[in-house]
Amino acid sequence: MRLVILYSAFVLLLTIPINGQTLYPTTSGSVGAVYTMSNAASMNQILIHSLNSTGQLTLTNSVNTNGTGVNTTAGDPLFSQGALGVYSNYLFAVNPGSNSLSMFMLSSSDATQVTLISVQPAYGVFPVSVAVNNMYACVLTGGSMTGIRCYTYNSSGLFIVTSFDRNLTSILSQSVPPSGPRQTFSEILFSADNMALIISIKGFNATSPGSLLFYTFNSDKTVLAANPIQTIPTGGILPFSMTLVGMNGLLITDPGAAGVLTMTYSSTSGTISNIMLTSVNTTLASALCWSTYSPNVGNYYVIGAGTATIVELALNLTSTSNPVQIIQYYQLPSNTGALEATVVSLAGTDYLYVIGTTAHVITGYQLKAAGQAMANGMVTSQLGDTTSIPKLAGIAAFVNTKSSKSLATSVFVSTKIMIVLVVVSLFML
Ligand SMILES: *[C@@H]1O[C@H](CO)[C@@H](O)[C@H](O)[C@H]1NC(C)=O
Ligand SMILES: *[C@@H]1O[C@H](CO)[C@@H](O)[C@H](O)[C@H]1NC(C)=O
Ligand SMILES: *[C@@H]1O[C@H](CO)[C@@H](O)[C@H](O)[C@H]1NC(C)=O
Ligand SMILES: *[C@@H]1O[C@H](CO)[C@@H](O)[C@H](O)[C@H]1NC(C)=O
Ligand SMILES: *[C@@H]1O[C@H](CO)[C@@H](O)[C@H](O)[C@H]1NC(C)=O
Ligand SMILES: *[C@@H]1O[C@H](CO)[C@@H](O)[C@H](O)[C@H]1NC(C)=O
Ligand SMILES: *[C@@H]1O[C@H](CO)[C@@H](O)[C@H](O)[C@H]1NC(C)=O
Ligand SMILES: *[C@@H]1O[C@H](CO)[C@@H](O)[C@H](O)[C@H]1NC(C)=O
Repeated sequence: MRLVILYSAFVLLLTIPINGQTLYPTTSGSVGAVYTMSNAASMNQILIHSLNSTGQLTLTNSVNTNGTGVNTTAGDPLFSQGALGVYSNYLFAVNPGSNSLSMFMLSSSDATQVTLISVQPAYGVFPVSVAVNNMYACVLTGGSMTGIRCYTYNSSGLFIVTSFDRNLTSILSQSVPPSGPRQTFSEILFSADNMALIISIKGFNATSPGSLLFYTFNSDKTVLAANPIQTIPTGGILPFSMTLVGMNGLLITDPGAAGVLTMTYSSTSGTISNIMLTSVNTTLASALCWSTYSPNVGNYYVIGAGTATIVELALNLTSTSNPVQIIQYYQLPSNTGALEATVVSLAGTDYLYVIGTTAHVITGYQLKAAGQAMANGMVTSQLGDTTSIPKLAGIAAFVNTKSSKSLATSVFVSTKIMIVLVVVSLFML
């Protein structure tokens, strides 16, 4: 009987909902996974790190994308954000070297189980960023021919929506691989209401600055505008990553302007307003290129490549005079080489993961509260042949949403045990 009670207590512990999110650990204690891609020239691979309930990572396995990355030793060959994307239980990855998009199914009960289900051509050369919502996956290419292509997707794979193909070569074309960061494509994103696709493009200098493109959808999202609305955010030079702020705001990092741009937008007209450049202390943080958001803390985290710094920001876009407050600068471990980052929520606590492209690591932080990002381990993210040192790109995560079959059985058994216990205790009264 004591064993039974212990066992049911154990099973209950495995699936306790905290702050609305139930964690479903596998028997090895993994509650999810964090993914990056090797970007290797001979075979691009997804590197899979299991995530435990205290946010620590362990490199567990890898899976081929059936596509190729970039043959370079450059620190950041893509100059983009969003090379990987997770939506529902699917993972999407661009293959810059083979001009394609790969789609994987993620096991709902074990995020480390990743199965390639589809590889489809992108539109143009050198895909750098992918955006996914419940209807479409859309890919941006940034090479000699540039453009966008969208696909519908389901468990059978990716299906090209040819009527959404758009050629952007007349706006910008590049070498392969692109020589940047100037005049390269940065990111593709859906607006918060999914009524527009937004693309960021880096410019050259203050007199020849970068821009944003808005492609609007019709009301049922079956028609994409033939031409984009192109706008130049005042004060911007090299618009890089974009992070959504609420329903109509954008945070854009700008390594050329040494700060971040904030603005509000209309997804129906493609117009932007209240544009503001907030500068950072360039001694503490330079080359701000990537950004992410912590829903539990409510703050934004921007990554500076030059100084390998995380800058934590509090945003209030209703304020037109002071929309950005710099909360804290955090120095990343030296010589790791900072790149893209993502946030994972685990039962009410957020964890931040930053790629270190030079050292092939992912550095973790626990986001305890505003201004309190605490180092939470570092994992080396490299598998196989290290001779032509591939460069990591893209980072995304998935948290298990179901218990594994054996656990489901245990929960069922434990429910019966609980009933027995209740009946027994009723008898004892
Ligand atoms: C990468 O480039 C190097 C130098 O140009 C070349 O020797 C090597 O074969 C290339 N590797 C692949 C996989 O293309
Ligand atoms: C998570 O993993 C780390 C590093 O392997 C370990 O120290 C820690 O105890 C683990 N936590 C849990 C709850 O499993
Ligand atoms: C990936 O490549 C392997 C080996 O060539 C092949 O067996 C498999 O069908 C490919 N998968 C997809 C989804 O293209
Ligand atoms: C997936 O979508 C394609 C294209 O719309 C459709 O032909 C196919 O039947 C769908 N498959 C599933 C499993 O829903
Ligand atoms: C895309 O546009 C460029 C220049 O505008 C043109 O040269 C090229 O042929 C176009 N590509 C396709 C596939 O239409
Ligand atoms: C800015 O870039 C443009 C386009 O490359 C160039 O023509 C111009 O000379 C540059 N201006 C300055 C001030 O460097
Ligand atoms: C920027 O940071 C450095 C190093 O902490 C500090 O010495 C300097 O005063 C700061 N500059 C400004 C303008 O705050
Ligand atoms: C945001 O800014 C507006 C306008 O300045 C102000 O009224 C509001 O109190 C601010 N909100 C917060 C949470 O600080």
